Amino acid sequence: MKLVKLLANLGYGSRSVVEREMRKGVVTDIHGRVLGTKDFPPHSEILFKGEPLDQPGPLTLIFHKPDGYTCSTDDPGDTIYDLLPARFALRNPVMSPVGRLDKDTTGLLLMTDDGHLLHRLISPKHHVPKTYQVTLDRVLEGHEAELFASGTLVLRGEEKALLPAVMEVVSEKEARITLEEGRYHQVRRMFAAAGNHVVALKRISIGKLEMPEDLEEGEWRVATEEEIGLAGGR
Ligand code: URA
Repeated sequence: MKLVKLLANLGYGSRSVVEREMRKGVVTDIHGRVLGTKDFPPHSEILFKGEPLDQPGPLTLIFHKPDGYTCSTDDPGDTIYDLLPARFALRNPVMSPVGRLDKDTTGLLLMTDDGHLLHRLISPKHHVPKTYQVTLDRVLEGHEAELFASGTLVLRGEEKALLPAVMEVVSEKEARITLEEGRYHQVRRMFAAAGNHVVALKRISIGKLEMPEDLEEGEWRVATEEEIGLAGGR
């Protein structure tokens, strides 16, 4: 792969933008030598504006999604991509969220350009559990856990029953719920079917991967192999 193509695939700009940047001399090696389009030193020795390049794919990020940001670039308003370096939205292959969270859902979100990992983590066939912390408008009535565990609950507008889900009571108006599938607004619609209303929702784990305590809302970092394994991706 040529240097221009590599940089374009990593989202540093279209090929023409990258070529223009290279003519300005912003792509160097670690010794400060300005690189031309025919140069191609090892990845770890290339700098863009003095910074090491992002790793080539597969790349997975671990992100603490804040309230008020959508996971889709098609939606108007603030998106999670606004909180990441612009080049992440331009990478090829693209970085996709592993199971979208609603605009007003917070918590653990993985983003990856690895199609196999994405499929493994979101396909119900692989039974990767996702756990949410739920805050409710009204007190729990006591029938919810059995309803959600039944495997017979059919959401409004759907025909196929939900897979059984596990709900634990945390307090009168708080619960933890673990699902192995991710239908549209699933947790909110489940509690609506039980006669309640979700006022706050946070994803706290994917597989055995819990939201790292050091990541504040809006912060992200590259996920380690160990974290990807804990999420159920290996
Ligand atoms: N269930 C929901 O209702 N919303 C989410 O964002 C995730 C799961």
